[in-house]
Amino acid sequence: MLNDQLRRVLQQMPKAELHIHIEGSLEPELIFALAERNGIKLAYGSVEELRAAYAFTDLQSFLDIYYAGASVLLKEQDFYDMTMAYLKRAEADNVRHAEIFFDPQTHTARGVAMDVIINGIYRACQDSPVSATLILCFLRHLSEEDAIATLEAALPYRDKFIGVGLDSSEVGNPPEKFARVFARCRDLGLHLVAHAGEEGPPAYIYTALDTLKVERIDHGVRCLEDAALTERLAKEQMALTVCPLSNIKLCVFDQMEQHNLLQLLDAGILATVNSDDPAYFGGYMNDNFIATFEALPLGLSHAHRLSRNGFVAAFLPEEQKHKFLAEVDAFFAKI
Ligand code: ADE
Ligand code: ZN
Repeated sequence: MLNDQLRRVLQQMPKAELHIHIEGSLEPELIFALAERNGIKLAYGSVEELRAAYAFTDLQSFLDIYYAGASVLLKEQDFYDMTMAYLKRAEADNVRHAEIFFDPQTHTARGVAMDVIINGIYRACQDSPVSATLILCFLRHLSEEDAIATLEAALPYRDKFIGVGLDSSEVGNPPEKFARVFARCRDLGLHLVAHAGEEGPPAYIYTALDTLKVERIDHGVRCLEDAALTERLAKEQMALTVCPLSNIKLCVFDQMEQHNLLQLLDAGILATVNSDDPAYFGGYMNDNFIATFEALPLGLSHAHRLSRNGFVAAFLPEEQKHKFLAEVDAFFAKI
């Protein structure tokens, strides 16, 4: 059990969230409200029925429901309301900075225009007291040509997103499938990240690094299966955006007691804690920290390190990064 002091520290410490799919923050209540507003009939009769379907066996079983949930998003205001709801929740968890993933192809495939998606999400970020930036993710189960067309459609809004990522069904869709589009994004000066080593093998982490030239690995927890890779990630201080509750809900680990977050830290890796798809996986940032610290032998020094790691790994100008890190250190100095 967590002592009261450590619980309070986890709740109150300043945080950066670097792995949050905005479509994964859609709570069932908001899904139903947006469905009604837009005259969309859902396959589930009630909020309770929908929530009861959140019993996943692997990544694909989640993605099927996640894409169905996102089908209620049609208008700019829908994207704004979803993003604002997340940012309010993040603010309550003392998240100071969030780098938010969005999946435009999930929406453009249904006829929603790119400007509707980006403007709605971006406007909410501007209206929030939480510092928030956007990362456009390509769906890896689709073709590279589709990703290239998506990038071209998003380029008129280049100033509204800071980077690109790669998500959706990992196994069978290795990073190298997207070598050309990532090279183009690199030329455009965009930050690069990719999901790798969530369900996929360490080989996908290598190609995310060496072929896509990413600056952070999303998940990456399977790196520990390869000692040379583990050593390299630590040496290069390559950040991993770890999502503990997600890993349990998607059966990457059977139980939180088996999660490898502490082993990653002990190996010298720049691991961070994040919520992934909080509406589907049982919690936001503080829930992730509390569940992890309850199950693993983690203490105050780990809390300090994880709070710092989020800002160290963030795509922020140096001056802003140091301001946040000074806030973290001042918080821990007072304990
Ligand atoms: N899209 C939303 N959440 C995801 C995850 N955990 N892995 C891959 N794609 C995703
Ligand atoms: Zn993810």
